[in-house]
Amino acid sequence: MTRNGTIAITGAAGGIGIATVRCVQAAGLRAAALDLNPVAEADLSHALDLADEEAIARAFEAIGPLAGLVCIAGTNARGRVEDLPWETWRHVMAVNVRGTMLAMKHASPRLADGASIVLTSSVSAHIGTDGYVAYHTSKGAVLGLMRAASGEFAERGVRVNAVSPGWVDTPFTDRALAELPDGEAIRAAAGAAHLLGRMAQPGEIAEAIMFLLSDEASFVTGTELIVDGGFLRKR
Ligand SMILES: NC(=O)c1ccc[n+]([C@@H]2O[C@H](COP(=O)([O-])OP(=O)(O)OC[C@H]3O[C@@H](n4cnc5c(N)ncnc54)[C@H](O)[C@@H]3O)[C@@H](O)[C@H]2O)c1
Repeated sequence: MTRNGTIAITGAAGGIGIATVRCVQAAGLRAAALDLNPVAEADLSHALDLADEEAIARAFEAIGPLAGLVCIAGTNARGRVEDLPWETWRHVMAVNVRGTMLAMKHASPRLADGASIVLTSSVSAHIGTDGYVAYHTSKGAVLGLMRAASGEFAERGVRVNAVSPGWVDTPFTDRALAELPDGEAIRAAAGAAHLLGRMAQPGEIAEAIMFLLSDEASFVTGTELIVDGGFLRKR
């Protein structure tokens, strides 16, 4: 990543997304947001649905040259193998996997040599939670996509990595817990599920993303940075 330029950020209106916009700007870079919702704080904001390839193509054309791409947009949905509606499966895959792939595809011709791509997976790629089959599958797919793409982009000196958070205190978590009858009890237990005894704040994930974007990570590609406060270690 150059020390100046533009970083495109999908999901920039969300908890981890807006924290990343702020870190990018604090580092002297421009933040270009791509999200269902506009992001007033960003230097450029494109309100779009990541299921819409034409809208993504238009947005990247308007944004222009890139020093980096961060794919944060994601969605979750409940459903077990035997009863998950296909529409729900398709939607989760459309945002978490296809949306990530399309952002990489249309960012690709605009990425400078030495640019960095950061995808967002989850500790959910490494564990199972009953009743969230689409989400867990999608986050495993993001790791596969990261590994596959990292070789192709390496030919141009572009690095590709993924960050995998544990629980993060964001609207995403609030919505997931609100759907559960025992959501508040689960929230109380969630912190204790991490070695550090709490959920992450969104800025802590954004800082890990900044490391992967930065020249300090110049020899880091094709890998996953787990930022989970010891969640996987504690299981
Ligand atoms: N919050 C957590 O505990 C947690 C844990 C592990 C991984 N993650 C991952 O981190 C990422 C961000 O999570 P967050 O907690 O900031 O969530 P969030 O819900 O606060 O933000 C997600 C953003 O993605 C955007 N988005 C969703 N669908 C979209 C679409 N079709 N087109 C464009 N934008 C769309 C939303 O508008 C929102 O701004 C997600 O990929 C999530 O899976 C979150």
